[in-house]
Amino acid sequence: MKMSGNTILITGGTSGIGFEFAAQLLKLGNTVIITGRDQARLDEAKKRLPNVHTMQSDAGDPQAIAALFEKVVKQFPELNVLINNAGLMRRINLHDPEVDLDDLNREIATNLSGPIRMVKQFLSHLKSQESAAIMNVSSGLAFVPLPISPVYCAAKAGLHSYTQSLRAQLKNTKVKVFELAPPLTETPLLDAFDSVDMAGSKAMSVSQLVGAAIRGMEQEKFEIRPGQSNALKLMSRIAPKFIFGQLSKSVDNMLRTSK
Ligand SMILES: NC(=O)c1ccc[n+]([C@@H]2O[C@H](COP(=O)([O-])OP(=O)(O)OC[C@H]3O[C@@H](n4cnc5c(N)ncnc54)[C@H](OP(=O)(O)O)[C@@H]3O)[C@@H](O)[C@H]2O)c1
Repeated sequence: MKMSGNTILITGGTSGIGFEFAAQLLKLGNTVIITGRDQARLDEAKKRLPNVHTMQSDAGDPQAIAALFEKVVKQFPELNVLINNAGLMRRINLHDPEVDLDDLNREIATNLSGPIRMVKQFLSHLKSQESAAIMNVSSGLAFVPLPISPVYCAAKAGLHSYTQSLRAQLKNTKVKVFELAPPLTETPLLDAFDSVDMAGSKAMSVSQLVGAAIRGMEQEKFEIRPGQSNALKLMSRIAPKFIFGQLSKSVDNMLRTSK
């Protein structure tokens, strides 16, 4: 698809992959709107990218999604691309008695229910455009779980599955459905993790990742799996026990340090 002249909404655009998407897509001549929960971070992003439009909105909150839709389509009726990027990732020890029942599913609310609700809310508008796309940002961990982040990986596996179904259901529309499954990427998402958690894997630079994602969209490659994400998908098919064992190693460290 053409990667210039679009009007693009990116959830979670104040940091990491979302911010880099905004920067690169603006450079290519697109109109870009980003969201985030924190107004101060939105203001900071606007300072760094003066042409970006910002709207405060929580991707895990259905009422905020409905309000965002009203505001966006009023101000930007030509909106034709939705990038569901907002996400969080936590290390969760399932033995921990302190884990709160409500808080436990926060990754599901933001990383899985969020995109599902955003698509439901924006779909008829996108279908009315001449050319349109939805990009869901999943993860290489959608193919093989990293057990120290069990809820995150469940959400991403769910998002991968949902995106496949969405693509099949939209096959006779003008809305193209993309999935970006990033590998480990240098962003603040990883601040709470150390190299033992990530089995010493080297992270990809965020500009390289987003460059690959935009090229993938341009070439209409619908499942974009840069670097190690491609290897994870392949290994999940040819050596599933081995690769799951590798990603399970950091559980030992978690169990040892929590005693
Ligand atoms: N970095 C990696 O290694 C990696 C690998 C695979 C997949 N991913 C995926 O890539 C996406 C972006 O991650 P990142 O690495 O760029 O993380 P990041 O640097 O932590 O950025 C996350 C962004 O999402 C926003 N956000 C979080 N919760 C939100 C909510 N409920 N509503 C709206 N915005 C929200 C944050 O802003 P506020 O906190 O201010 O709301 C921030 O702008 C995520 O879906 C992540 O799972 C990342």
